[in-house]
Amino acid sequence: MDNGTGFDFIGQQNSVIKNKKALDIDYIPDNMLYREKEMERIKTEVYKPSYLYDASTNLMVYGDPGTGKTAIIRKLDNEFNTVLQQNDEENKDKIKTIYINCEGNDSPKAFFQELMSQLGVDYSNGGTISENAQKLVAHISNKKLNTIIIMDEADSLDKRNYLNKVLYRLTRPSEIYDGFEGTISIIAVSNDINIKQSLNDSVNSTFGGKKITFDSYTRDQIIDILNQRQDIALKEKIFTEKNLKKIASTVEEDFSGDIRKGIEIMSDVIYKHGEQKLLQNGEKMSEILEETIERIKRRDIEEFMSDKDLHYLLVMWAYIESFEEAETQFNPIYERYKKLCKYARESLETEKGKSHMYVRRRLDEMDENNIINKHVDRIDKGTVSNYTPLISFYILKDAVESKMEKEGYFEKLHMGKMRYSEENELTESEEKLLEAKVE
Ligand SMILES: Nc1ncnc2c1ncn2[C@@H]1O[C@H](COP(=O)(O)OP(=O)(O)OP(=O)(O)O)[C@@H](O)[C@H]1O
Ligand SMILES: [Mg+2]
Repeated sequence: MDNGTGFDFIGQQNSVIKNKKALDIDYIPDNMLYREKEMERIKTEVYKPSYLYDASTNLMVYGDPGTGKTAIIRKLDNEFNTVLQQNDEENKDKIKTIYINCEGNDSPKAFFQELMSQLGVDYSNGGTISENAQKLVAHISNKKLNTIIIMDEADSLDKRNYLNKVLYRLTRPSEIYDGFEGTISIIAVSNDINIKQSLNDSVNSTFGGKKITFDSYTRDQIIDILNQRQDIALKEKIFTEKNLKKIASTVEEDFSGDIRKGIEIMSDVIYKHGEQKLLQNGEKMSEILEETIERIKRRDIEEFMSDKDLHYLLVMWAYIESFEEAETQFNPIYERYKKLCKYARESLETEKGKSHMYVRRRLDEMDENNIINKHVDRIDKGTVSNYTPLISFYILKDAVESKMEKEGYFEKLHMGKMRYSEENELTESEEKLLEAKVE
């Protein structure tokens, strides 16, 4: 009933949601599908030797975003601790597991601070990392603790050799503390299959090649996981098999298989349209899905652009202009970027255009963020990179255009272009020639 206040939902019951938490992207279902093998391996390769034989083992866990790594390791860890607390009075304080998300603790100092605080050891701010690491190792040794340290998003520590610094100390405790007793096992979780290449040999050897890869889910598996999720979250099935297929193919094709996007699409639909009766009988759902998927893509790209500076946006705009001319290789994109930089210098007082490397890195980042897709083709003398939009081109163009407009860049670029051609007294054909020249 409309009572004119805009709060007419007060007094109503939500009719679709059974468990709101299950609509969050980091919710962990009791039953994780299709990961039995991986769970078994983590149990037998890390937890079991640590518990039964006082042995430390280190393990790398790889997998693309949204393949269930965090959910699985957190679930195993919770279960292990619950069983331990309930069934083994004698050993329950002998084994300690610590979960650290390195993303929020991405320097050795932050990492050790967090680790030590979880183990109840004071971090001394006046001390060096080495001194603190020694203090930590001494604590573990004195209490004869068996520790399992889970480093989620370990590649966040990759910068300037940070990961080596942390891992070196943790994997060789007897080198920093004479007569070390107790154990330290590491589970390092990462998106980057090449992370080993950034590790020193001495660190790599302590992992002994032990790794588990979480393969990306197939389309059918994505459908089952999303279907399970709606069963947990909703009072009745709202997404039909056909709807789930659509969501799963979007996850696969547009979001590199990141299942979070599927969960996000479902919860967006529910929050925006959940109370409409039309959802329940399946009508219009295909339209609603299309519209939701577009909105999410647009939101992603806006979020991506929110902290980008002029030069970044110029690369994006150069990309858009090139693509419209059916030019998808690096060189034409770079030339366009340089041209835009010249205009920008006239009216925006910016520094001059940046290097090939800068532009390549930005395009790589756009690739990593599912905005464009980079594919490298082999040619006679080497390789050539091609870039195609992953987000529908018109959404991409519209979003970048709005941002450029909002920042006032278009107007300035236009003025810059006029000024540039006046000062250089160029005819149109001369201008074209100049534009074509690669710097
Ligand atoms: N096999 C599965 N069965 C049920 N739900 C799953 C499964 N795999 C993933 N999920 C759900 O998908 C979401 C994302 O999973 P998770 O956070 O574990 O991904 P991730 O591999 O850690 O990604 P990232 O590398 O980005 O951190 C979570 O809500 C999780 O519960
Ligand atoms: Mg994760």
